[in-house]
Amino acid sequence: MENTQRKILVTSALPYANGPIHIGHLVEYIQTDIWVRFQKMQGHECYYVCADDTHGTPVMLRAEQEGITPEALIEKMSLAHQQDFAGFAVDFDNYYSTHSEENRALAEEIYQALKDAGHISRRTIKQLYDPEKNMFLPDRFIRGQCPHCKAEDQYGDGCEVCNKTYNPTELINPVSAISGAKPVEKASEHLFFNLPDFEDMLKTWTRAGHLQEEVANKLDEWFEAGLQQWDISRDAPYFGFSIPGEIDKYFYVWLDAPIGYLASFKNLCDREGLDFEAFTRPGGDTEMYHFIGKDIMYFHCLFWPAMLHGSGFRTPSAVYIHGFLTVDGQKMSKTRGTFIKAETWLKHLDPEYLRYYFAAKLSNRLEDIDLNLEDFIHRVNADLVGKVVNIASRCAGFINKRFDSRLSAQLSEPQLYDRMVSGSGTTDVAALYDNREYSKAMREIMLLADEANQYIDRMKPWQLIKEDGREREVHDICTMGLNLFRLLMIYLKPVLPVMAQKAETFLNVEALAWKDLKTPLLNHTINNFLPLMTRVEKEKIDALIEESKSDLMTTEQNTNDTGHGDYLQSDPVSEQIGIEDFMKVDLRVARIIRAEHVDGADKLLQLTLDLGGETRNVFAGIKAAYEPEQLIDRLTVMVVNLAPRKMRFGVSEGMVLAAGPGGRDIFILNPDTGAQPGMRIK
Ligand code: MSP
Ligand code: ZN
Repeated sequence: MENTQRKILVTSALPYANGPIHIGHLVEYIQTDIWVRFQKMQGHECYYVCADDTHGTPVMLRAEQEGITPEALIEKMSLAHQQDFAGFAVDFDNYYSTHSEENRALAEEIYQALKDAGHISRRTIKQLYDPEKNMFLPDRFIRGQCPHCKAEDQYGDGCEVCNKTYNPTELINPVSAISGAKPVEKASEHLFFNLPDFEDMLKTWTRAGHLQEEVANKLDEWFEAGLQQWDISRDAPYFGFSIPGEIDKYFYVWLDAPIGYLASFKNLCDREGLDFEAFTRPGGDTEMYHFIGKDIMYFHCLFWPAMLHGSGFRTPSAVYIHGFLTVDGQKMSKTRGTFIKAETWLKHLDPEYLRYYFAAKLSNRLEDIDLNLEDFIHRVNADLVGKVVNIASRCAGFINKRFDSRLSAQLSEPQLYDRMVSGSGTTDVAALYDNREYSKAMREIMLLADEANQYIDRMKPWQLIKEDGREREVHDICTMGLNLFRLLMIYLKPVLPVMAQKAETFLNVEALAWKDLKTPLLNHTINNFLPLMTRVEKEKIDALIEESKSDLMTTEQNTNDTGHGDYLQSDPVSEQIGIEDFMKVDLRVARIIRAEHVDGADKLLQLTLDLGGETRNVFAGIKAAYEPEQLIDRLTVMVVNLAPRKMRFGVSEGMVLAAGPGGRDIFILNPDTGAQPGMRIK
């Protein structure tokens, strides 16, 4: 696997623009991000792209409800999604939108190619139509009584009580969920993609090693049931791309959604001068992988390869499918407070706890994964704090204080080090990552961490240091200990990039890569030990669950709530904090020495703040309220010890305090003119 540099394009499913990112989604983005980080650490050329999936009826209706254009809605959601991803250190090479010119061009190209090759047909179908709203109703927007078990208030496509599926026209007493009107049947001509034309191709493709075996088996069931033509058009009104050569017809959102993978990559290629064709046409030496959840298998394993193949694009090297997240053994639930938004998690808990826990649970299979909250606390504390961080903290003090922060010229047990580089002999950590066997990789790494701790227990540097003439041994032992810590951090870096970065600062080294395993750090000056990670506290989890319950109240009461909101919007239910929490917030007077618009951001201004010597770069969501010029030279108050946040536009190194209901009415705090930049606020 080493040596030859691979060229890899990787995607995660594009999240819908009509809802916030939650921890269920994060299973996928974290799984993919770990894999991509691992490939990059191997020295491969790897690109990770994603985008918001913006089209369709739900986005159109939601924008209407909020009294804004769909464009404004998707812009707002995209920013919120990107903040969430950055918060969890999910590091895309490009995050784009399906509502883009690149995507329109590619969707038209693919459609035209399929049409030219005779794979598109048209026929008139009957559908339920809302006579008040004047639109055809998607199945999910029709409610009525189940034709089988007679349960009330079921969706148009299936019953949640008896689990049977049916056509919306079979519902008893159907009503439109949009207007409440009684729907009528109406005919309309639709365009179809002839999936059956690709039956042979797909039967071969699904058994050619591109899919997990369980998935290939599932597809066999679908082949047996017979492939159907796929309806790819929708009538106006619809938020999407209009179909060339048709009047008032749009591509169905699922047609242009996967094409959005290519469009996001195209956008990256154009920006960075990469070869789009080399990654997307057949016959090259590049690889293309899609990570998705099991609910969208049909689209990715049948329609998508067929569309690509039929239009002269390459098919995926593999589609990697994961299961669904449950919390404490049950589906995520709003009332139980386990429907946890990414944003809410970030307010209470370290994102790397979740990254580690998911890694410790993920395999390359389709089975669901469970976030068991008790086990979560135990696992993170025992493994990361108790084992990994412990190694560094046991050795660092000696090196920092006794040896002038300098590592010795040799390891005390080079054989042990070498053995840990090649894993425990049975399994290779790198191969486990590459095969997406993360839970096995984590188990392996923790066994190595145990060994490292046992080594220190055995050597007892804290005793030796008290004996005369044994300083040198202690030096070698602690050098060995820190090298084992470094080795573990290399192994864990795909999962814990933030902690790895802190470790790099502490060890005073460049970004760690896989090849660094071979060369231990010797004769090298390190920095003072930093706290790398703190224990998970049960109280924080309780607070997270409580807030997730109250999220539900606010979303249900307020239909305008996007589920995300600006962080400046008033929060109806805030958790109480103690004085200790408050004291942790380091507030300082700062002078705004530069303020600028940010290309492509509709809410942010980029501020340069002077703290009396030190300057900070901060992105503040106050563009609607201030012109940049108005801000220059003003004093304000900022939180200086907020962890830096990577945003699409750069790293934000703090937060400026402001108050107000939002939009134009935001007022940044202005201390008295007598204040000096850098002054601490008490
Ligand atoms: N927009 C489509 C994907 C289009 S891809 C061309 C979509 N969006 S989604 O927001 O509903 O889901 C995004 C991804 O998150 C999907 O792969 C989905 O399977 C995954 N998950 C959503 N909820 C999940 C869980 N509760 N658990 C695990 N993964 C989940 O589908
Ligand atoms: Zn039923």
